Amino acid sequence: MMREAIHLFHLLFSYEDVPVLEQGELTIEHGSFLGIIGPNGGGKTTLLKLLMGFLKPNRGLLRVLGTSPEKARLHIGYVPQFHQCDREFPITVEELVLLGALSKTSSFGTYPKEIKERALDLMNELGLAPHSKKPFGSLSGGLAQRALLARALLLNPELLLLDEPTANVDPTSTFLILQKLEKLKGKKTILLVTHDLQSILDRVDQILCIQRKITPYHPKEICEHFAFGIYHPPYPKKHDGIQSISS
Ligand SMILES: Nc1ncnc2c1ncn2[C@@H]1O[C@H](COP(=O)(O)OP(=O)(O)OP(=O)(O)O)[C@@H](O)[C@H]1O
Ligand SMILES: [Mg+2]
Repeated sequence: MMREAIHLFHLLFSYEDVPVLEQGELTIEHGSFLGIIGPNGGGKTTLLKLLMGFLKPNRGLLRVLGTSPEKARLHIGYVPQFHQCDREFPITVEELVLLGALSKTSSFGTYPKEIKERALDLMNELGLAPHSKKPFGSLSGGLAQRALLARALLLNPELLLLDEPTANVDPTSTFLILQKLEKLKGKKTILLVTHDLQSILDRVDQILCIQRKITPYHPKEICEHFAFGIYHPPYPKKHDGIQSISS
């Protein structure tokens, strides 16, 4: 039986009067890996913030991991869109990664041993170990995104929300980030916002295109036009036996 990770029902959200996100019904299955695409200002970041409970729908239902977004938050790993991160905050890479387990600190503010070990493992896996004592603000964009991913993964969340983790990132970082997500595929529900359609097409189970409304696509239905910002509904499937003129 399908296990639901996310369920939206007659959802409406607007910052002011203009609706930013409007969705009839949408269910995302647990363990699925989804790519989220769409034009600038389409509502991708807004959807992730609604799922985190940072924003509240004007109307409709939003169920995350069987409960409300606020209650689900402890089981969600979130990598915010980069420009929304404060890079000036004086913190080392290791400290930033450990912040992912802030809810697990003792009354003295120390982290449990297994959390510290997991932080080290993640930093090793993502090539961050040599940088662990450096200020987060001194890292290149790619290393910073790897650190934000390690922070998001620290508590082994059921749901991962990633807002353009590979935007303006060097090829090695892109490779390491996508490789890590590939390893988690099927075990966690992953929502990955990206403008780089090509790098995710072979990896994801489904694509959601968000431009105020959410349109789900099978990766095979994605058209090359999308790479140029022209998002259109899937073309109707050809009937068997009828060949297109060009073939
Ligand atoms: N805090 C805010 N107050 C008012 N309007 C906002 C706010 N944040 C976003 N918006 C508007 O809501 C719409 C959706 O924004 P959102 O950030 O969700 O888009 P996006 O798909 O993530 O875009 P991008 O690809 O540029 O990151 C845009 O029109 C944007 O201008
Ligand atoms: Mg965005």
